[in-house]
Amino acid sequence: MARFRLVIVANRAYADHDTPQGATPEGTAAGGLVAVLRPAAGEGAAWVGAGRGRYDRERVDASGEEWIRTPYGDLRHRRLFFADEEWRGFYELASNAFLWPLLHLVRPFPRLTTYFPQPLTPTREVWSAYRRANEAYAEAAASMDAERAWVHDYQLGLVPRMLRGAGYRGAIGFFLHTPFPDWEVAQEFLDAQGRACFAEWLHGLLAADLVGVQSSADARRLLRAAAVLADAREAEGGLRAEGRFVAVEAHPVGPDATAVEEPARTVADPRWLAELRAVGLPLVVGLERGDYTKGIPERLRAVASLLHRGRRFIHVGAEAPTRVSVPGYEALAAVLDDAAAAAARAAADVGLPFEERREALPWEDVVALLRAADVLVAASLADGMNLVPLQTVLAQGMRPVEARAVLVVGADTGTAAAYGPEFAGRGLVVVDPLDDEALADAIGAALEGLPGRISDAFAQAVRRRDARAWASRYLERLEALHARD
Ligand code: F6P
Repeated sequence: MARFRLVIVANRAYADHDTPQGATPEGTAAGGLVAVLRPAAGEGAAWVGAGRGRYDRERVDASGEEWIRTPYGDLRHRRLFFADEEWRGFYELASNAFLWPLLHLVRPFPRLTTYFPQPLTPTREVWSAYRRANEAYAEAAASMDAERAWVHDYQLGLVPRMLRGAGYRGAIGFFLHTPFPDWEVAQEFLDAQGRACFAEWLHGLLAADLVGVQSSADARRLLRAAAVLADAREAEGGLRAEGRFVAVEAHPVGPDATAVEEPARTVADPRWLAELRAVGLPLVVGLERGDYTKGIPERLRAVASLLHRGRRFIHVGAEAPTRVSVPGYEALAAVLDDAAAAAARAAADVGLPFEERREALPWEDVVALLRAADVLVAASLADGMNLVPLQTVLAQGMRPVEARAVLVVGADTGTAAAYGPEFAGRGLVVVDPLDDEALADAIGAALEGLPGRISDAFAQAVRRRDARAWASRYLERLEALHARD
């Protein structure tokens, strides 16, 4: 019998030990990946992730393993430690200066904005570091002796093929948390070496039994790219490549409902938020990692324009600093500073407070802020899902329906794809974040509660499709597909 029912393989560890005694509290800095996987990572599961916490080495045994107590049971956790140079190549350059911007190219953003970077082609050394890191993950995953391996996200695209190549017999799942790009658009920004690396990456994940993506649009784009780059043929429910069937399916992630709803009932507002609320004006809230995919300058411009038009509200933005030493983030920092300064001036001119925090808020403060929002703006240019609007739906459950928020979300987000068809007009407004006027108008209307506030039906739908439901559905499908082989 295998030692574990499941090994989760993700570059992000379940938790980083940043203090001598404890793990990092849940927050926004770690991104959505850990948040959605938490309910799946309990009893009988193992996790392989990077050791990036200051005290991680002190907490593991000789094989890099430790037990981590989670709300869902004890998790066996293995950490991989990388030398600085390897990390620079694997994480900063190949994963986040090349793949990350590339995967978001559902539209030609480097041409449509002043700050969205072109994917930086990896040098041969950099791509070798990416391969070596993926090999280390594949080896560690195989050594955990689990019935199935669930590999996550773009940092580990080569792992499914490496696992299969090493003779791993269990089911292999791969889940992409980011969007999948439009190949017609993306190829404009790739040279021959960039194209070869992307083709190898895609080829790597097609060794899985099930490739999960966030939306059916992502699945369609993946199938088209695989036809060109991996010689794959579309087949019902997926594709055939190298004589094998690979299922390609949309499995939109959802928030960990308990982690939001419990604190939403009890936590107090932090003092700075209580003071802002005491002014008695509606709050327009934005909360995200400080990333160029998130449409933050666009939100700030819309806020400034509304304030100039005489609208009265308080803007509260919180951007968790992210990937600060990764090339491509400098341009955003300058644009963000300018946009924030302009919006702050517009607020000051009419005597209104304006809040723009560049920090990862503690989880309780995140929940309090989402609970307090009257308009939540998640104007990502492209986003795998963007859990923040969905967490807002859950955090507002205690507010009377007529006093709940309106969510304004970017058209190319998983949230718009998953909930737009049912809830546009009932709590959700879908806009093109690059259309300045449309975005400002949508926020302006949302301040009036138009075209409708978060409904109970919306909250129930989010609860039904929460992180636990997502993981069970994905793993059941993986099991069924593997059993068919
Ligand atoms: O889900 C959000 C996300 O951006 C993932 O795509 C990514 O794997 C994760 O956050 C962690 O990113 P990082 O480790 O670079 O902060």
